Amino acid sequence: MSPLHIDGRNGRSTIYVDGSIDALAELRGARRLFIITDENVFQHHGARFPAADDVVVVPAGESSKNLADVERIYERLIAAEIDRDALIVGIGGGMVTDLAGFVAATLLRGLPCGFVATTVLAQVDAAIGGKNGVNIQGYKNMVGTIRQPAFVINDTSLLATLPAQQFVNGLAEVVKSGLIADAELFARLEAHGPQLVATQRDGHLAEVLARAAKVKVDIVNRDEFETGERRLLNLGHTYGHAVEKRTQMPHGFAVSIGMVVAAHLSVQRQMLAPEDAQRIENVLRRLGLPVSADVPRRALMDAMRKDKKRASDTVNYVLLDAIGHAVTVPIAYDELERTLDDLRLPVA
Ligand SMILES: NC(=O)c1ccc[n+]([C@@H]2O[C@H](COP(=O)([O-])OP(=O)(O)OC[C@H]3O[C@@H](n4cnc5c(N)ncnc54)[C@H](O)[C@@H]3O)[C@@H](O)[C@H]2O)c1
Ligand SMILES: [Zn+2]
Repeated sequence: MSPLHIDGRNGRSTIYVDGSIDALAELRGARRLFIITDENVFQHHGARFPAADDVVVVPAGESSKNLADVERIYERLIAAEIDRDALIVGIGGGMVTDLAGFVAATLLRGLPCGFVATTVLAQVDAAIGGKNGVNIQGYKNMVGTIRQPAFVINDTSLLATLPAQQFVNGLAEVVKSGLIADAELFARLEAHGPQLVATQRDGHLAEVLARAAKVKVDIVNRDEFETGERRLLNLGHTYGHAVEKRTQMPHGFAVSIGMVVAAHLSVQRQMLAPEDAQRIENVLRRLGLPVSADVPRRALMDAMRKDKKRASDTVNYVLLDAIGHAVTVPIAYDELERTLDDLRLPVA
């Protein structure tokens, strides 16, 4: 499969959708190489890392994505005498690529960087598009930049070691990509989803992930700074973030529920056929994703109103007018609350 490209105002990215971690040795060229990774990735795949000037291994998990860890990484890299000949490469899931991208964007006022994405979520979403950053005071991704990595390597062989829950978690974003912009991708998930989950290395995996990556690449190429179309990538995320906050369930699981709600809202507004909403629910279920959560509506509404993306009393809700086509619709929170009460959503 040929690589994809992002031509951004803040850099040009090549995304090797069918890539190999072994290509790193060549991609670094003559640059000094500094790798940032996490404990799990290092444990499973460290033996495949190329020789590097330094390898910084941070604890796995979202709690490493903060300014204190960034400072520790700066200090470590400065001690290793990092200079402008350096290439910083983040090898890991979205936590690592967000962290490494931020370090690279800021240390020495910006060093070239690249990623090897090791989770489904990173391969189709987090590593692509240049957003990086860390969390602060419990708010996600509040500090960061938009800056394209020079390259992203998606090596599907690395996904075989992912815990099943992480694999399925990332597939929620793949379903999202299909729903937003690629009906054929959605159809493939309908046909092969359960097999993909059962094997984590099914023959369709590389192609399915490549299609999802392409959906993101195409959108970022048209709207790098999220002034319009890039917002469509938030399908399922308004409700999903609220569910995630209230239940602590994995991000993709919460987004799955959010997509079901978006589908029902779309039907209610007569934008989407009821059969299509049913298809969406079926696909998610068959992948092992939840389609409902047992959380009081009021608690979810409170969480939605407090979401940092809130600009006013109105939320730009992403809805579907077909499988494979999304639109944003401004909805007042009060109206949203009434509508959600009226909807016959699946019960937990
Ligand atoms: N920048 C963006 O545009 C963007 C978009 C979406 C999400 N994100 C961010 O991405 C992060 C979530 O990404 P994630 O789901 O990849 O989480 P993650 O990086 O925390 O990885 C999930 C878990 O899988 C482990 N892991 C990673 N690769 C593995 C492998 N090959 N084998 C075994 N274990 C492996 C990790 O150690 C971790 O425990 C969040 O911080 C989120 O904010 C960023
Ligand atoms: Zn997401």
